[in-house]
Amino acid sequence: MSTSSIPATLRMTPRDYQAFDALFELSSRIGATAAGGLHRLTASAEDQQVRDAFCTWLTRQGFDVKIDEIGNIFGLITLRPGAPWLLCGSHLDSQPLGGRFDGAYGVTAAAATLVSLARQLREQNEPAQYNLAVVNWTNEEGARFQPSLIGSSFFTGAVTLDEALACTDADGFTLDAALQAIGYRGTALPPLPLRAYLELHVEQGPHLEQQRKQIGVVTETWAALKWQVTFRGEQNHTGPALMSRRRDALLAAAQTIVAVRAEADRHGEVLHTSVGRLATTPNSPNVVTSEATVWIEFRSADEALLHQLRASFSQQMQSIALATATDVSLDRAQFRPRQQLDSLLAQRALHLAERIGLSAIPLRSVAGHDAISLSYHCPSALLFVPSVGGLSHNEREFTATEDLHRGLDLLMALLSDLLLE
Ligand code: GLV
Ligand code: MN
Ligand code: MN
Ligand code: MN
Repeated sequence: MSTSSIPATLRMTPRDYQAFDALFELSSRIGATAAGGLHRLTASAEDQQVRDAFCTWLTRQGFDVKIDEIGNIFGLITLRPGAPWLLCGSHLDSQPLGGRFDGAYGVTAAAATLVSLARQLREQNEPAQYNLAVVNWTNEEGARFQPSLIGSSFFTGAVTLDEALACTDADGFTLDAALQAIGYRGTALPPLPLRAYLELHVEQGPHLEQQRKQIGVVTETWAALKWQVTFRGEQNHTGPALMSRRRDALLAAAQTIVAVRAEADRHGEVLHTSVGRLATTPNSPNVVTSEATVWIEFRSADEALLHQLRASFSQQMQSIALATATDVSLDRAQFRPRQQLDSLLAQRALHLAERIGLSAIPLRSVAGHDAISLSYHCPSALLFVPSVGGLSHNEREFTATEDLHRGLDLLMALLSDLLLE
């Protein structure tokens, strides 16, 4: 590790923090909700607007802007032609009625830090080993289009372009059509060989705040099992239809929701479960539901537990179907393994944090992040700053400006350390 080679002058300046603040505020205005949050679903009009603003900003700052076939936006700064790249970023899409920090912080922080770094390297005539790039990944959230992490998964080859473009939203609109509609269905780009991928993100959980630490360095992420389960019954009149003859798909879904929660209660905090979405047909107060779909999530660090649940829960779904006289289909099971992030980079981040006077601890991530996709492709680092009250996917999600700036400080230290290695 060559931390001693960081010139003391490669630091964020007051002007750099201001540039970040302004860019982050610009992001926060686009798709802003009255309660201070963000509603900026993938490939929506708001997503188009923030992408346009981001591309304009990048171009003004001297980045070479490229859009790939799935709409990932890259801003490139060539320092050493032909050398590998240091890529930094996150996502600008949000959850419905989401927070303004989740994702947007990582993109705007990366952009502002890279501008500062490139400027200081030029001023000081420092030789760089790598080139610099910022990225906004398409559809990290998986809110409008499932699965999540589509843009980063396409970049690493984990999903094909056809698979990614064929994802549909609740209205049957494909991601392909949605990206074309907003003008972000880009073109095939030449490969971008990466030395490392770095992502700054808000923690979205309580640990940093509880432990009064400023930085979390993610060492591994929880595994996740996501499932779409559909019950099919019989549409009927809610009045005259005999209770004993009903085939109520919503009743089956309700029992499923309770069963999903019961699994978490049985296992304690080692297992997080939820049903975040329910769709019913025909969705009328006086019609027995003919079809109900629930979106189930099981997350744990214990992969064996998830595999076991996959088997036992399938049986439970069959029992619920039998008891409610419905048919069940378990669709789109998606398993994301537990994943380690690069331990050398994590060590380096912890060490550098200490060097620049930040209190940092290793953490696990329970949420999904593009850094997980990238970790299969190149050494990747995921760095957290505190979330007030651990609240996220909520309009009241909040991180104090000083904490945001501390993340930029560490990103700058890590980038300059890598760049001069
Ligand atoms: C989305 O933000 C996720 O963590 O799954
Ligand atoms: Mn995020
Ligand atoms: Mn999110
Ligand atoms: Mn996420």
